Amino acid sequence: MKIIVKANYESVSKEAFEIISNYIKNNPHACLGLATGSTPIGLYKRLIKAYERHEISFKYVTTYNLDEYVGIDRNHPQSYYYFMHNHLFNHIDINPENVHIPENDIKHIDDIAKAYNEQLKKTSIDLQILGIGSNGHIGFNEPGTSFDQETFIVTLDEQTKRDNARFFKSPALVPTHAITMGIKNIMDSKKIMLIAVGKRKAAIIKAVVEGKVTTEIPATILQKHPDVTLILDTSAASLINKAYLKNENK
Ligand code: F6R
Repeated sequence: MKIIVKANYESVSKEAFEIISNYIKNNPHACLGLATGSTPIGLYKRLIKAYERHEISFKYVTTYNLDEYVGIDRNHPQSYYYFMHNHLFNHIDINPENVHIPENDIKHIDDIAKAYNEQLKKTSIDLQILGIGSNGHIGFNEPGTSFDQETFIVTLDEQTKRDNARFFKSPALVPTHAITMGIKNIMDSKKIMLIAVGKRKAAIIKAVVEGKVTTEIPATILQKHPDVTLILDTSAASLINKAYLKNENK
């Protein structure tokens, strides 16, 4: 696990941007796994700016999103479909046919999960971007999820609903379910880049770096992946034992 520590959110976003934009420049047909949430917004802003400056093109890039809420419309401002179009896809030259975000029609949700999983099995994600929940979830793989889990419908953890209530008008409006890539799908990616910022993430990041691998903290499985980079700000990295920070560069 490579750990990069940067001074603040801006420099974390810049570092993540540089890794991804270089990857796309060298691999114009890259297949990216994408995350939503507050953390990658700065990264997406920089990708848009680089596209506007004609430094990168997404013309041949393919994307697969990690997850989507179930129980809200795709056009709801808090849906991940809406988020991705608002924060990235509407502003770049990606081919809409190459964009994959799990659909969330509740009537067909089991078939949708099965079909998304089949697509993922046929594809190989080159670079997966992850955030992390304060309970250690990646995608929406909540504590207790099997490491062999593939795409599925998850009941959101109470902690996740509390954390995400900040995006909704009232806590009661936070969806109770989501469709998510499973841990196995995530671990099948060739490279993984996890970004985390803020004190709120410090304890879970320490567990991910130093703790034992346990389904109770899903992100600890990343210790077993051959190519993972954590990009952290000083607050998120603040509890990590210094011995683990050989690659630290502020
Ligand atoms: C989002 C996702 C989640 C978030 C995590 C952190 O697609 O898969 O795992 O990455 O909940 O969210 P933020 O960045 O809002 O702290």
